[in-house]
Amino acid sequence: MPTDTDAQKRAAAEAAALLVADGDRVGLGTGSTVAYLLPALAARRLTLRCAVTSPATEDLARTLGLEVAPLDEIGELDIAIDGADQVTPDGWLIKGGGAAHTREKIVAAAARRFVVIVSADKAFPALTPPVPLEILRFGARLTLERSAPAALRDVPLSPDGNLIADYLGEVGDPAELAARLSATPGIVEHGLFPPAMVHDVLVGTASGVERRALN
Ligand code: 5RP
Repeated sequence: MPTDTDAQKRAAAEAAALLVADGDRVGLGTGSTVAYLLPALAARRLTLRCAVTSPATEDLARTLGLEVAPLDEIGELDIAIDGADQVTPDGWLIKGGGAAHTREKIVAAAARRFVVIVSADKAFPALTPPVPLEILRFGARLTLERSAPAALRDVPLSPDGNLIADYLGEVGDPAELAARLSATPGIVEHGLFPPAMVHDVLVGTASGVERRALN
């Protein structure tokens, strides 16, 4: 039985599918919201080349008949669409609930337009922990100590076989925390996405899809 949240995710995903144009090179994120995007995109029967951020997204995209190619082969993307765990009014995101945030950040950075699709429960006044971290196995204990407070997550590995942990301290100024985490050896990538990376946020709400244009 679909919940209200499911309906909101679906509405945001279907609105995002309409932003894709024939011939576009499209980045596809990971997660339950993106799982609503893929059928909506496939139903439009456009000619697209898609770069994917996880095996799960790749499997579903191929099953639905979407053309998938390696990101390096496609190069720059016209648009990338992905979910998020938290979105603030000024456009900061936390991503990585599905352990794919490193690939998702690479794909978002490759896109001329990055569109975020969320249900209303993902809209937060300010970011709160946890912040996902992808960590190299080598020296992982030391990396976690340097990132304290942080803990390994009890989930599968990242799509590239690295460990997934969560930073559990206060976020405070997200730019400062992002700089600190980026400067910590052993952290492959953190789940803080800056507003400069985000072009539109589509929020599914009880009364329809609210669009926040950022860049
Ligand atoms: C995966 C992600 C997802 O986009 C995020 O966790 C949201 O997932 P969902 O759409 O299932 O709520 O960052 O790494």
